[in-house]
Amino acid sequence: MKIGELDLGERLILAPMADITDKSFRKIAKDFGAGLTFTQMVSAEGVVLNNFDTLRFLSFSKLEKPIGVQLLGNNPDIIFDAVREIERFNPDVIDLNSGCSVSKVVKLDFGASLLDQPVLLSKIIGKMKLASTKTPISVKMRLGKDNSHINIIENVKLAADSGADYVVVHCRTRKDKYEIPADWSWLDKIKSIIPIPVVVNGSIFSPSDIMEIKSRYSPDGFMIARGAIGNPFLFSRYNSIINNNFDPGEPNADEVFATVQQHFKYLCEDYGEDPAIQKIKKHVVWYFKNFSGVNSLLDKIFSFDNNRELFEFVEEHVYRIKNSKYKNFDNASVQKLFNEKINFWELSIENKV
Ligand SMILES: Cc1cc2nc3c(=O)[nH]c(=O)nc-3n(C[C@H](O)[C@H](O)[C@H](O)COP(=O)(O)O)c2cc1C
Repeated sequence: MKIGELDLGERLILAPMADITDKSFRKIAKDFGAGLTFTQMVSAEGVVLNNFDTLRFLSFSKLEKPIGVQLLGNNPDIIFDAVREIERFNPDVIDLNSGCSVSKVVKLDFGASLLDQPVLLSKIIGKMKLASTKTPISVKMRLGKDNSHINIIENVKLAADSGADYVVVHCRTRKDKYEIPADWSWLDKIKSIIPIPVVVNGSIFSPSDIMEIKSRYSPDGFMIARGAIGNPFLFSRYNSIINNNFDPGEPNADEVFATVQQHFKYLCEDYGEDPAIQKIKKHVVWYFKNFSGVNSLLDKIFSFDNNRELFEFVEEHVYRIKNSKYKNFDNASVQKLFNEKINFWELSIENKV
């Protein structure tokens, strides 16, 4: 897929995820072969006001390129100014968030609430295009408000007519919960009515999910969100399938451990060691969620405040996995909980593994 000057080839795109796709996460995804990564959504108003937190979430290193920045807002003039500001940092794409269904975002009339306001949506995209001198503009949207109000066809057409360079379709409605599988069947209809590239997003967790989509529909690109959490291997596996016709398969515990160590190194560079220790813990759970012993990991992992002790514990965990010291477990049930809530260990006790 081509986005302006950028030729992604067949490489996958890492989705924007608030509190997840920070610099270290993006670097890992890039190391493993993601073609394009995204900052989390940032407030357009925060950009214009030079708000400290907004700029922190927005900041990226030139070494991270290609990278996209995602804007959240609903005021066309403010978004115009934000695009002008952001262009100075030279990102590869600027995206408009029209898909976030989190209540505090929708209450402000941002994110997925734009799906019900075609005139405003069109005006915002038009202003983004006008503000941008060289950066491609994209729109990430859901199918509609709920199953009775699906208006993706109208909205993608409107996005294309207003100048968007491509669209990302998260194939769920605003009302759908995350455990409901995405409905990819909209893709062909969408592709048939707009001339710009269409990127599919939703429920892509493995190379076989991508192959299934490819065998039935023809999106131009694939954007991965939860499927990349604790699993940058999806990017390298898919690239290997495309380039060498060979799937190296799921990583073993040693490969996962090496990736955790690299991720921690990046977190230390970005935040310093103490915050990095706190931040790596949930990633460790996500990295090892497909292996036996998840409960034992969860019992202790959050209690460590010391780098050496934490990593000795994880090393011991890897040893126990490799030497079959844990009972076999139902991998699918962890995945089900993860789909419901990424911090699945916070679910009520009756839901637990
Ligand atoms: C923790 C989390 C944070 C997210 N933050 C954003 C965001 O900042 N902007 C956005 O457009 N979507 C956000 N999303 C939605 C994802 O980008 C993606 O559209 C959604 O998870 C569906 O893809 P998946 O089924 O592959 O997870 C977030 C999702 C999760 C799980």
